[in-house]
Amino acid sequence: MTRRLAIACDHGGYTLKKAIKARFSDIEWLDLGTDSTESVDYPDFGDKLASAIERGEVEQGIAICGTGIGISIAANRNPAVRAGLCTDTEMARLTREHNDANVLALGARITDEATALDIVETFLNTEFEGGRHARRVDKLS
Ligand code: RB5
Repeated sequence: MTRRLAIACDHGGYTLKKAIKARFSDIEWLDLGTDSTESVDYPDFGDKLASAIERGEVEQGIAICGTGIGISIAANRNPAVRAGLCTDTEMARLTREHNDANVLALGARITDEATALDIVETFLNTEFEGGRHARRVDKLS
């Protein structure tokens, strides 16, 4: 079955979003914008991504802005979201194994493209460990 994820970015993340979609073309992407490098506001796109998860349209998503900070803050305001901002593959592995993160946040001005693609690959291929981490994740909601 084709895996489906949402992806959203502001202008700072647009180029990296295109690279991620091209590299992981086997995934069915629900692309929530933005669609150019014209300046937009990251809260709007973090909220779109969070709403798609809240509505059950997708289980996971990727959020990108310049630093990854603004769009992760925006997405995390929705209780349905656990967004983890990752700058290396170790963080990506741990945010899946320990936090059951359903959104990967990336900073396109912080993390180079090759590293970001490795981070996405790790995020996509790592399962939640459950156990003691499930108790902690449950406490988040
Ligand atoms: C936009 O210039 C920039 O502020 C945004 O992409 C992000 O880094 C915010 O956290």
